Amino acid sequence: MKQLKLGLFENVAANVGGTVTWRHEDDQRHRFDDLRYWRDLGEVLEDAGFDFLFLGDAWGWAEIDGVRPPVATQESLDLPRLDPVVVASALLSTTRNLGLVVTGSVLVEPPYAFVRRMATLDHLSGGRLGWNIVTTGTAETAVRAFGMDMVAHDERYAMAEEFLEVAYAYWEGAWEPDALTRDKRGRFADPAKVHPVEHAGRFFRSQGYGNAPYSPQGTPVLFQAGASTAGRRLAGRHGEAVFIGSGPAADLRRHASAVRAEAVAAGRAASDVQVMAAVSCVVGASPGDARRRHASVLRCQTPEATVASYAMFTGIDLSAHPPGTPMADLRTELSRTQLERFAGRTVGDVLDAWRTHGVGAQPIVGTAQEVADEICALAEGADLDGVLLSPVLQPTSTLEFVEEVLPLLRARGVLADGYRDGETLRERLTGSGSPVLPRTHPAAAHRHPRPGASPTRSGEHGGGRRG
Ligand SMILES: Cc1cc2nc3c(=O)[nH]c(=O)nc-3n(C[C@H](O)[C@H](O)[C@H](O)COP(=O)(O)O)c2cc1C
Repeated sequence: MKQLKLGLFENVAANVGGTVTWRHEDDQRHRFDDLRYWRDLGEVLEDAGFDFLFLGDAWGWAEIDGVRPPVATQESLDLPRLDPVVVASALLSTTRNLGLVVTGSVLVEPPYAFVRRMATLDHLSGGRLGWNIVTTGTAETAVRAFGMDMVAHDERYAMAEEFLEVAYAYWEGAWEPDALTRDKRGRFADPAKVHPVEHAGRFFRSQGYGNAPYSPQGTPVLFQAGASTAGRRLAGRHGEAVFIGSGPAADLRRHASAVRAEAVAAGRAASDVQVMAAVSCVVGASPGDARRRHASVLRCQTPEATVASYAMFTGIDLSAHPPGTPMADLRTELSRTQLERFAGRTVGDVLDAWRTHGVGAQPIVGTAQEVADEICALAEGADLDGVLLSPVLQPTSTLEFVEEVLPLLRARGVLADGYRDGETLRERLTGSGSPVLPRTHPAAAHRHPRPGASPTRSGEHGGGRRG
């Protein structure tokens, strides 16, 4: 069995993934706006050897037929929510090894300023940055807030392709890795190694010089989780770590092979994509104890919150349809994944499932031994490269996992014992031995000298670390 990579999923909000947990007595997410809370969590993850902290993000809010249900605010289903980039930057100085993966949408802001923000984090973290590329499934309310017109589902993926082209042009091509000489005799940078970018496309136009010089990883490690046909194509073409959500091992295996096949179709190796599934768990001293603890989490859910939460992801009001309605009869231009993952099920089934785990994974409920067994079986059955722990309660579930489950997985050799070799997130996550993307990745086409020009000097693009 492969040795798994390990990440932790969190949001800078009082609830995560569409279920209500903030009211639970063992939950601290109501402290989402407290720097101490984030620093403590960062320290727990670093001490435990997690590869990365993944900070999800969303724009928009729950609405049903144009009206915001009061329960969404009362239970903090979607708002308030703070900026993950700022939280990640606050953790740079308190962590040394932990990768920091931030979610950024291609829909709401043009690439130029975003590119500099990401490069700044990659510089200051010494190459520990990852970017989760999202197209914003909650687009309908988000576009209003940004004063934009609605962009349909597949068009948002076309937008993502173009956004990435512009971003790569700046990250990989604007400043060559050795452009900064910092020579006190009067040559801070070499003008021959700084290049203007010119892009005029369907969605974006940008012309000019990049602000940030080449960062340790050039392009941050690219994470993607789109599950629709268009989403998988984007993930296969660009993603280095791809989340495939949760579900039975056989479904996950099919999803994982589909993403790897997209990578191969795009001229990459199947192994260039690290496929990771979301895993949740409720650990108890005995199976009965675990079930009781899980029941206490489920008691925090209400039918109104469940309906509002599903509507936030899809715009669909499940309470307006009889429970026996097949999900196949419903349509959305928001997150198609949240419809497709329930293919063959009814509205009643989905209300039930959403109440127990929302957008996330059905928790594994049992003793530490049982949880470890299930994680291993899932990883093997689905041919996973890693798991993304999605804690039910925070920090309780994370601490339980670290103290009780992690040692069992380490003892079986399923998880590495501490941080792997390499200074950057890319080296540790992909094992490629290089901090930058390989030549087979579309980003590499933006490097200088361009294909057809004289060959790249050796040592070039070996990373942007200061010599
Ligand atoms: C583990 C995991 C984490 C995700 N995190 C985010 C997130 O932070 N923000 C977001 O907008 N979407 C997030 N998504 C959703 C996906 O990016 C994607 O938008 C969704 O699956 C809909 O895909 P589709 O547009 O291809 O249907 C996540 C999905 C998974 C499986």
